[in-house]
Amino acid sequence: MAKPTESPASRKLHLALAPLGVGGPGQDGLWKDPRVAKNASVDIGYYIRLAKLAEGGLFDAFFVVDSQFINASYPSHYLNRLEPLTLLSAVATHTTSIGLVATASSTYNSPFNLARRVASLDHISGGRAGWNVVTSFDSQVSKNFGLDQHLDYATRYGRALEFVEVARGLWDSYEDDAFPADVERGIFLDPAKLHALDHDGEHFKVAGPLNLARSRQGQPVIFQSGVSEDGRNLAARIAEGIYAPGGALDESVAYYADVKQRAAALGRDPRHVVIFNSASPVVAATDEQARARSREIFEEDNDFDRKLAFLGRAFGAYDFSQHDLDAPFPDLTHLTERGGRRGADLVRQATDNRWTLRQTVEAVSQYKPGPFTGSPETVADALQHWWQTRAADGFNLHFRLTEDVEYFIGAVVPILQQRGIFRTEYEADTLRGNLGLPFPVSRHAREQQLVDA
Ligand SMILES: Cc1cc2nc3c(=O)[nH]c(=O)nc-3n(C[C@H](O)[C@H](O)[C@H](O)COP(=O)(O)O)c2cc1C
Repeated sequence: MAKPTESPASRKLHLALAPLGVGGPGQDGLWKDPRVAKNASVDIGYYIRLAKLAEGGLFDAFFVVDSQFINASYPSHYLNRLEPLTLLSAVATHTTSIGLVATASSTYNSPFNLARRVASLDHISGGRAGWNVVTSFDSQVSKNFGLDQHLDYATRYGRALEFVEVARGLWDSYEDDAFPADVERGIFLDPAKLHALDHDGEHFKVAGPLNLARSRQGQPVIFQSGVSEDGRNLAARIAEGIYAPGGALDESVAYYADVKQRAAALGRDPRHVVIFNSASPVVAATDEQARARSREIFEEDNDFDRKLAFLGRAFGAYDFSQHDLDAPFPDLTHLTERGGRRGADLVRQATDNRWTLRQTVEAVSQYKPGPFTGSPETVADALQHWWQTRAADGFNLHFRLTEDVEYFIGAVVPILQQRGIFRTEYEADTLRGNLGLPFPVSRHAREQQLVDA
């Protein structure tokens, strides 16, 4: 692995906030809480308030996850939510410094349209946009886009790589000084600084140019989520930020080292791949109170039928209720080939342990307090420890209530600041600047510099 060249003091912790409105996975009872507005997930005011709060806490990004398939068993927030780029465009006009990251699928979009929409957000926000490239977890999405089957892994990830390459090509359609807008000489555009893409690849044929110039941060920041072999290779090639699942500390350390090493092997600076782990802190005045709250949260959602229904998500929204709960876990390997790794892992675990369906549901959903449960001091210690052992460069945080975000910002963030690992003011007003990523010089300007040299 290429040695990081930064001094330890220059490495900073990064924080993002992922809003989950009336309740994401594992928060199924949240909508019942009187403090949660029943329309939170479709109320732009909710998102604006939360983004402003996160900006007050100096978070790097407001990070919106997304999907394009549901059935009635999905978490409440997923059932009825706003499209990320649309909602972030509104949030952009009420914030000034926080990054705005939208999840969008490379499997079920076309590069010209999506490149234009993400670049528009980048302009609207003054250079704060990011795009979280996903290949879509829910295999049934295909049916919303005229396909009987989800694309297979190799095709999805091949398409994702080419998609990002095309988007980046389109984002460089104009050089930064393409518009002299010189009234005296009557020159609005310098046509020599406009470049068509003329891309003709395996998955896409896109002529370009894009009808939108580069933004203040040059190009939107590319994030990626997906942890398979193909996902890691894609990340190493294109990701500037990663949304990683988190999990156990040793797994996260291994994933971090692996992805940074893959990026370095491709000649990239591993510091320019900023890894955010998913984390759901439960913070209270004392460790004991936080542990009790964590148990309470688990019990609120501890409903067997709901857990059985949600298990189906990893198998293409499969209906497990048709099986005998006390018979061996059904062999559904064929349903996992195109979905995420989770389904295949579950089949393997259930087979190895000879679990019945009931035992599988109980085993995978048993109570395990998260690593970020405790008093503000304990949670700050844990975040710092994960960051210092290079399990993550930062965290994409999930909370339940707006009050929980407020508490974290008021109680945990100051401890991280006192320890010198989290910023006390924004370094920049672009997402790229705050993540410590270099400004991407336009490929055409770069070529010209090489010719001139
Ligand atoms: C932490 C994490 C977050 C993800 N978020 C989304 C999401 O918001 N929407 C989506 O459609 N897929 C999401 N995915 C799914 C991935 O894009 C990918 O399709 C899936 O994980 C299968 O690929 P993999 O085996 O490489 O992980 C996420 C995956 C991970 C690991």
